[in-house]
Amino acid sequence: MTALARKIVIDTATTEFATDAIAGLTAMPKRLSPKYFYDSAGSALFERITQLPEYYPTRREIGILNERAAEIAALVPTGTALIEFGSGSSTKTRIVLSTATSLAAYVPVDISAQFLHQQAIDLRREYPKLAVLPVAADFTKPFDLPGAVEAMPRVGFFPGSTIGNFEPHEAASFLRHAGRILGRGATFIVGVDLVKDTQVLNKAYNDAQGVTAKFNLNVLERMNRELGCKFNLASFEHHAFFNRERSCIEMHLASLKRQRIKVCGECIDFRAGETIHTENSYKYSIESFGALARGAGFTPVSVWTDPDGYFSVHALSLRDGRSTPTW
Ligand code: SAH
Ligand code: AVI
Repeated sequence: MTALARKIVIDTATTEFATDAIAGLTAMPKRLSPKYFYDSAGSALFERITQLPEYYPTRREIGILNERAAEIAALVPTGTALIEFGSGSSTKTRIVLSTATSLAAYVPVDISAQFLHQQAIDLRREYPKLAVLPVAADFTKPFDLPGAVEAMPRVGFFPGSTIGNFEPHEAASFLRHAGRILGRGATFIVGVDLVKDTQVLNKAYNDAQGVTAKFNLNVLERMNRELGCKFNLASFEHHAFFNRERSCIEMHLASLKRQRIKVCGECIDFRAGETIHTENSYKYSIESFGALARGAGFTPVSVWTDPDGYFSVHALSLRDGRSTPTW
C-alpha cells in the first residue's frame, strides 16, 4: 500500500470512529461499539486477558481444539483457504494450521490492522509453505478476499466466542454475511461460550489484576489519542456483570462524578454514576446457538465441549441446493 493510500485508510477509519463516538455518546443510554477496543494497545490487552486465571474461555477452547484437531482437519478439503474472522494473535489457528496440512492459504481478517500485519509476519516464518494473506477490515461489512483465494474452497473459522459480542439478531446477520463470503457447502467452525454459574462468569470479566478494566478503559484512551479528547481515566470505573435475563455479560464504564467532556467539538455531559455501555458478551446453550445457526441457513454438523461444558466449538455446514435461503 502506498503512503497516500495508507493515509486515506487511516483518515476514513478515524472519521468513522468520530461519527460513531458522537452518535453513541449522545444516545440514551450512552454506548460504544466493542470493535473500538481493538487498536494495537487493545489487542495486546486482550492477549493478556486470555492468559488470566479467571478468563477460562481461551484455555477451554484451546483444549477442545487440541483434542478435536484431527476431526476438524477432516472437514478441510485439500487446497482450502481458511478464512478467520477476528484473528487476533492466531494462537488457536495454529492448532488447525499444524493439523490440516493440506491447507493452501490462510486469510486472517481483523480490524486491528497493525497487530494483524505483525502476526502475519510471524505466521509466514512459521508456515513457509502456506500463503498467509491478511485482510484489515471490519468483518461486519463487505470486504474483498485476496484474488489468490478466489477459486479455492473455503472453510471459515470464528473462535473466541467473538460471535457473543453481537446482539443475537446481529449474530444471525453476521452468519448470513459470512455464509456469502464462504460460499455454498462450506464449513464454518465457530467457538461459542456457554451459559454457566454466575460467579464463574462475573470473575472472568472482573479479574483481580484489573486487566479487563484496562482493556475497557482503553476505549477512552483511544478517543484521547485518536480524537483529541480529554477523558480522565481515573474518573471512570469498569463495571461488568452477568445479566441472566439477557444471558449476557454487560460491560460498562461508569462516570464517578458529574462531568462534561468534549468529543470532536460536541459537549457530552455525564451524571455521577452514568455509564457508557461498551460490550455485551452473550452466552448460549448448545441448543440456542444451534437454532440461531439453523435460522441463518447453516446445518450444525458437530459440536464439541470441554468436560465441564464451559465452552463449545460448533462445526456448521452451509446448506446447499434448494434449502439455501435466499439472501
Ligand atoms: N480469535 C482470537 C481473538 C478474539 S478477540 C481468539 O479467539 O483469541 C476479537 C478479535 O476480533 C480481535 O482481534 C478484534 O480486533 C477483532 N474484531 C472485533 N471486532 C471486529 C470487527 N468488527 N471486524 C474485524 N475484526 C474485529
Ligand atoms: C472477544 N470477546 C469474545 C471477548 C469476550 O469475552 O466477550 C472480549 C472480552 N471482553 C472482556 N474480556 C474479554
